[in-house]
Amino acid sequence: MIRSISIVLLVLSTTGVSLSWEGSLGRNHYSAEADSAEDRSRSIYTNYCASCHGSTMQTFVDRKWKYGNSASAIFESIHKGRGGSDAAMPAFGVMLKESQINELVDYILSGIEEGKVYDFEQAFSPTEVYNAEKFDYTLEVIASDLGIPWGMAFLPNGDILVTDRDGAIYRVMKDGKKVIIRGGPSVYAEGQGGLLDVELHPNFEKNGWVYLSYSSHKMEDGETVSSTSVRRYKLKRNRLTKEKLIIEAFPYGDTEIHYGSRLEFDKEGYLFLTVGDRGSRDTNPQDLTRFPGKVHRTHDDGSIPSDNPFVDTPGAVKSIYSFGHRNPQGFFIHPVTGTIWSHEHGPRGGDEINIVRKGENYGWPLVSYGINYNGTVFTTLTKKEGMRDPFHYWIPSIGPSGMTFVIGDRYPGWDGHLLVGSLRFEYLNLCKIEDEKVLSELVLLKNIGRVRNVKQGPDGYIYVAVEEPGILYRIVPIKK
Ligand code: HEC
Repeated sequence: MIRSISIVLLVLSTTGVSLSWEGSLGRNHYSAEADSAEDRSRSIYTNYCASCHGSTMQTFVDRKWKYGNSASAIFESIHKGRGGSDAAMPAFGVMLKESQINELVDYILSGIEEGKVYDFEQAFSPTEVYNAEKFDYTLEVIASDLGIPWGMAFLPNGDILVTDRDGAIYRVMKDGKKVIIRGGPSVYAEGQGGLLDVELHPNFEKNGWVYLSYSSHKMEDGETVSSTSVRRYKLKRNRLTKEKLIIEAFPYGDTEIHYGSRLEFDKEGYLFLTVGDRGSRDTNPQDLTRFPGKVHRTHDDGSIPSDNPFVDTPGAVKSIYSFGHRNPQGFFIHPVTGTIWSHEHGPRGGDEINIVRKGENYGWPLVSYGINYNGTVFTTLTKKEGMRDPFHYWIPSIGPSGMTFVIGDRYPGWDGHLLVGSLRFEYLNLCKIEDEKVLSELVLLKNIGRVRNVKQGPDGYIYVAVEEPGILYRIVPIKK
């Protein structure tokens, strides 16, 4: 006999108002005895699981199963619930019969098989020859043992500066040797923090200026607090000298997450910096008196451009260029069009690509396509007046880091399309863009490792930085 029991899940929205999500499993769902097990399970899944796990089981395609993906482990998860008193994953044992749960387990297991876009079992081989539509390509290891290679900058002589999040700065030379550059900032290498991006001044050949973004820290009331800062240095041989503070984001916070931190110069010589929300989504991104959750724009010495959008707004941080961002770790200013592209990590689901425009609000946390990591919903809005829609979004989250447009003819068929690194699924994502839309996406270099950065060098080659073990690869096209 099937009992009809209703469950109520408490869902908190950001405004603090409690909404309730109610559902009841009634006879009518299952009355047709002729329904197949698959139909029955699909109905349960759609009604009771899809809101948190994705309509196509996106969250189960993740290889990092916390409680195991054997049939018995999945049964346990559904029957008893997971996540303890947080009630993250509700216990369905009170509502579903064991036979229903067993059917659901089969349904999920076969669903994972079918939806297996990300085959983590497949071994990665750096010597493999890959096929694109119009050319073949392979990988060349440019340097290894780079820790967590976060930023890279191409020096005029062909050397590459690479920052390791733990604090080291490497000069990678053409022959693959690397030396350490001394004299950089003292960084707070905890959590997601440390030494982050590196960018050369557009006039580097004349002035030798290198910009570094990093997690700065200090003590406040006996506690270590940290933030995102940028310093400028003059590179002399393998030493950084003449340090100057360019931006320091206030207030400091006690978390070790969401530093953002991509640095980029545009054609006119303005310096852009992204700063993440530092984990304080309700206080930072929408408040113009605070630095976090923003894209900032300054002159090369840190002074404020007089046409920044909030220079005349009382109390506002004058370097703010756009706001309502969560944690932007990909930033690219198109050298031809000047369009500013950024992407940001969403919460669970809802990573976004945005086109950044002066003074605009990108909505975090008031609008989002994602949900909280614990499965609760903080906003049901994906659009709101006055807030910019994302150009593109990913559910499930791919964990984007680094991005570049491919420009020129070195990779036929890729020209004009966007490459984004995936930390979570360990591949390079090629977004084919046409008519201002992502028309299709291709998974490249499956299982290469957590892709932290991707850039196109002045030599036209694409460089891909992967973490742990930190390796810098170059994509080498071979004619078909
Ligand atoms: C309110 C949101 C929510 C709903 C509804 C929900 N889940 Fe979950 N589920 C979660 C969360 C959050 C976790 C992770 C808990 C943790 O990490 O401790 C989870 C974990 C799981 C896991 C274990 C995954 C692992 O990594 O080992 C399984 C299996 C699962 N859910 C199945 C289901 C099924 C089947 C349904 C529908 C009958 C369902 N869930 C409904 C939020 C939900």
